[in-house]
Amino acid sequence: DVDIGCHLAGLHLSSCILNASGPRTNTEQQLLEIARSSAGAVCSKSATLEERSGNDQPRYTEIQLGDRTSSINSEGLPNKGFAAYTEASLLRRLRESAEPAGKPYILSISGLSLQENLRMLDLLLESGSVEHLSAVEVNVACPNVPGKPLVGYDFPQFEAVLKEISAHPVFTANPTLALGFKLPPYLDAPLFDAVAGMLNPLAKSKGGVLGYVVCCNTLGSALAVDVETETTVLHPKGGFGGLGGPVVRYLAMGNVSHFRSRLDESIHVVGCGGVCTGEDAFAHILCGATAVQVATQHRVEGPTCFYRIAEELKDLMRRPAGGKLVGASGGMPKIR
Ligand code: DOR
Repeated sequence: DVDIGCHLAGLHLSSCILNASGPRTNTEQQLLEIARSSAGAVCSKSATLEERSGNDQPRYTEIQLGDRTSSINSEGLPNKGFAAYTEASLLRRLRESAEPAGKPYILSISGLSLQENLRMLDLLLESGSVEHLSAVEVNVACPNVPGKPLVGYDFPQFEAVLKEISAHPVFTANPTLALGFKLPPYLDAPLFDAVAGMLNPLAKSKGGVLGYVVCCNTLGSALAVDVETETTVLHPKGGFGGLGGPVVRYLAMGNVSHFRSRLDESIHVVGCGGVCTGEDAFAHILCGATAVQVATQHRVEGPTCFYRIAEELKDLMRRPAGGKLVGASGGMPKIR
């Protein structure tokens, strides 16, 4: 049969389709459902050190274009707190539920400061949980916390964050623990050059520990208005939120391709943005993605989406003409 597994930053995923941090990743029940689904890995909600209830409601809305659903959210990092996503009992239940066995568990963290991220890594280093964790994905791209501009757009701060996090002893003490960064979308070539210039020195081939980046988080500063009530649709932050789903798919694919062509080969790129079908996933792979995350569609459809998308991707791979999963092997769409 067709193999849609992949090797991501030293981890083996039985399917290259996995969930994105965010939708349906907050509670233990939700994470266990992903473990039992066809997703290639389980990725947690971005954790902060302390539990957060997030921004005021309404903080999420859907945008329907044909049969495709996009979203704007201003959740504000509601999460159960770092301890909940690393406690031994959760990790044991995830292992017991994982189908197939050995499915990687990725801890997403989004500390409200560099110090908070480093503190969570300190706690990980001290805890026994780390041996059951496959990767830490540091989210530097949340557009929704009042008073906290995006780290990924503040290059001096971003460079310090990259250096200090990748130098943390938890990664040298646990060489199989992968490190990833979830990036915001960028919109201009000099910015891709600058970010790649900060990431490349951290590559494994240069003695560093950086395994992958995710392209990308939602596109911030989206604004939906209700013409009946003449108000913003969302309440927090003046109504602004992060745009996700099919309306950002082409932007996400552009980001995947820009980074794939600039990054050291040992740094994998994970595509995230608007994946609803196997064809969408394959398009991301053609742009250079090693694996593909699903966010809005997972929220809308539930965890059975991972089976459906995987089967659609396998059907595409069975086409007589072409259909090789090129991804990290350097694949790029040919220029017409
Ligand atoms: O769009 C997003 N919403 N991106 C994040 O990184 C966090 C999330 C939230 O909780 O606001």
